[in-house]
Formats: sequence, structure tokens, C-alpha cells
Amino acid sequence: MSTQAQPELARKSAKAEVCKVAVLGFGTVGRAVVEILTYRHPAAIKLTHIFNRNVASKHVSWVPKDVRWTEDIDEVLASDVDLVIELMGGVEPAKQWVRRALESGKSVVTANKQLIANAGAELIELAQRKGVLLEFGASVAGGIPVLLGLQKGLSGDQIFKITGILNGTCNYILTRIESSGVTFDSALAEAQQFGYAEADPTDDLEGYDARAKLAILARVGLHAQVHPEEIAVSSITPIQPVDFHYANLLGCTIRQVSSAALEGQRLVAFVQPAVIPTTSPLARVRGSENVVISTGKYGGETAFSGHGAGGHPTAVAVISDVLLIAQQRGTAQLTPAKKQELTSEVTTPHYVRFVVRDRPGIIAHLAKVFSKYSINIDAVFQKPGFAKTSLPFVITLEACGRSVLDEALAEIAEADFHVEPPLSLPILKETN
Ligand SMILES: NC(=O)c1ccc[n+]([C@@H]2O[C@H](COP(=O)([O-])OP(=O)(O)OC[C@H]3O[C@@H](n4cnc5c(N)ncnc54)[C@H](OP(=O)(O)O)[C@@H]3O)[C@@H](O)[C@H]2O)c1
Repeated sequence: MSTQAQPELARKSAKAEVCKVAVLGFGTVGRAVVEILTYRHPAAIKLTHIFNRNVASKHVSWVPKDVRWTEDIDEVLASDVDLVIELMGGVEPAKQWVRRALESGKSVVTANKQLIANAGAELIELAQRKGVLLEFGASVAGGIPVLLGLQKGLSGDQIFKITGILNGTCNYILTRIESSGVTFDSALAEAQQFGYAEADPTDDLEGYDARAKLAILARVGLHAQVHPEEIAVSSITPIQPVDFHYANLLGCTIRQVSSAALEGQRLVAFVQPAVIPTTSPLARVRGSENVVISTGKYGGETAFSGHGAGGHPTAVAVISDVLLIAQQRGTAQLTPAKKQELTSEVTTPHYVRFVVRDRPGIIAHLAKVFSKYSINIDAVFQKPGFAKTSLPFVITLEACGRSVLDEALAEIAEADFHVEPPLSLPILKETN
């Protein structure tokens, strides 16, 4: 992902024999980046500073002795480094320090999706004004070069849709429930035990992490300006093994799907668990892997898949950006982004799972309410063997809009037979 290279940068780099770099943040990714810079030792790159708070606790013996460890950001920003690699995470103070680096004529590489999703436009504009580069290829799907692929490899097409599995934690949990029938809570505990989920997994499970990545993909691939908080999200936490049973009866499975599509002047964007055919490339992504599928007017579908996270895969993407800057290849002008009318309203068939205290008349009641909202029932599925006091069954609905379904479900939720609120998922048969 490149900002515009300016003559000032070209002059500066032509003079400099080596590109001096500083790493901000010696955590999972920062450590892996320093490791590659130390052992692979790319020509023309010289690591000069490692910055972290409480830096004494971070020291490792394998870093070359001439690298300066510091907890003083002013020292780094006032130094003669050509390039700052920001790997701390979060919007502040990263934004303030990236701004200062760019203002003082240093290029920046970052893996920070929150920073780019929230402040990318102003930082890109600043980099262009100062004649330096801002690269953020590692901010979406870690080690998968999807941003570079969209911006360079597919720039000849007119991309109108990007769909993906962008959160490895959610994908790990959903594929674990699917493969072994464990409960949501057990799958989450397992993901935490193996390091696939944070102690506080809210950002992943609620879709906040994926929507930050989707906002960046929409910016780069669709040239659409969207703030992450404008993108509708729904949680994967209500998904249980019984949902996979019913989805399988439909020839489908369930994944957290992130999607952004241009429809005329509108951008339809959402992150939500959805019922998708088992034949979809999205369904075939297992465990903590990621996939991004772009659809272009001329080139059709292109898929990017692989390890979307992890220290080393992400560090590879970071180093690739550093090399790109050092080699002066990032010269493409950014296509201006436009503000679209944003909506998550899609008209699709739906899967609705109820858990009820069984008694006569429930289906009749549901049919009456759906009919009131002109929603047609497609099929009713009921797996045998459940207690009548907590009976899960599924109704699939013919294509209907999300907002009208939400209204119908709000009315249905008032009935006294529910053991838990109805769960509705779109069936995305057309989505890749
Ligand atoms: N991990 C991945 O798989 C992955 C994948 C793609 C993108 N990313 C992105 O890469 C970035 C780094 O992620 P990570 O997993 O390496 O995080 P991490 O392990 O938490 O490392 C962050 C490092 O930065 C330091 N730090 C944080 N805030 C600081 C501050 N205000 N002042 C000084 N030092 C500070 C932390 O110090 P302490 O140890 O003292 O907290 C820690 O050493 C994030 O933007 C993340 O979203 C990560």
C-alpha cells in the first residue's frame, strides 16, 4: 500500500547508502521484525533504534550491540533514522508519533489496523504533503499481501466487491464448534489456551477487529471512504453446535463474514456470522487462517488466503513494506476515496433459530407474524432428541430485507415461549 513518492524522497534516498530504521514496540510483531532484520540482514537496511516503554525488561542478547534501546520517543524522532516501523498498536499515542515522524521527513511502516482505519486518510495526506511514504500492508490479514495485490496487481480491474474471513479468532472458534461439536464457551477457552484469542476477546467476537480491516480494504480496493464505526456488526457469541447441524442440513456452514460491495452510489458493508454454502471458498478456510476474495468487473474473483496473523507472518509483510520503501518502488498515486451512502441492508434468505418451551400453536404464531410482515417461510427443521423445555428448531425464510425481519423478530420476541432470543443469520448463497 503506497502513498505517492515525491522527488524529495527520491533525492534523499539516492544520496543515502543505507536506510536507517527504528522499531517502535518490541512485542510479538516487533520482536519478529527485529529477528528478521538481524538474521536475514537485508542489504541497505540498518536497524538503529528499538523503542519500548520499560525498555530494560525487553533487552535480548541476540540484537547487534550497536542498536540503541530506548524508552525516549523524542530521541528516536530527533535521530537521523529514515524510516520508523510502528508496531505498538492502538490509535494513541501511535497516531501522534506517526504524525511527528512523517512531519520530520521520515517514512513510516505500520501493522496497526486501528490507526489506519481511524486516521489513515489524514496520515496518507500528510505523508504525500511531506514527500515521504506510509505503508501499511501488514494491517489487514497479517502476512497475506492482499493490500498490495488489490492496489497493484488488480489496479487494472474495477473491483466492486470484497468479501472475507478477516478474523482468525472467530474462524478458529466456529470451525472448532463445527468439527467437534463443543460449546461456544469451550471453543473460546481453547482458543485462549492456544493463544488464538486474547484474554479479553471482545474486539474479535463482536466484529470490531474485522470491521477495522474491512474499512481499510474498502478504502484500498473499492476507493470508498468509510469509518469502521459506521459498519454494522453482529456478534458470533450466540452460535451453538445446533446451528451447524441445521446449517449442514441446508448444505451450508456458518462463518463470520466481512463484506463490502459497491451498488451504484451505495456501499453495502457488514461484519456478521452468516450461513454460507459448504462449497464456498469462505467455508473452506479452517482454523485461524484468513481469506479475502475480491470481485472485479473484468477479472472476476481473485482469492488471497493464508496466515492472517502471528509474529513471523506479519513481520514478513512489515519487512516487505520496508524493502518497498528502500527500493523506491512505491510510486503509485492513491485513487481518491469517495464518501458513499452506507448501509448493511441486504435482501437475502435467512436462517432463524428458535429455542422454545414447546407447546401447541408456536409455529402458527410465528407464521402469522411473518405473514404480517410479508415474509415467506421456506422450510422448518427440527432435530429430534431435545427436551421440550428447551427445544431448538430452525425456520428458513425466503429472501427478505434485514430491517423488516428485525421488526418481525422484535414482535416475535415478545411471545412467552422463548427460552432464549431468536438468532437470525443471512444465508449468503450468492456470496462467493
Ligand atoms: N500479533 C499479530 O498477529 C498481528 C497481526 C497483524 C497486525 N498486528 C498489529 O501489529 C501491532 C503490534 O501487535 P503485537 O501483537 O506485536 O502487539 P504486542 O505484542 O502487544 O506488542 C506491542 C508492543 O508495543 C509496546 N507498547 C505499546 N504501547 C506502547 C506505548 N504507549 N509506549 C511504548 N511502548 C508501547 C508494548 O509494550 P508492553 O510490553 O510494555 O505492553 C509491546 O512491547 C498492532 O497494531 C497489531 O494490531 C498484529
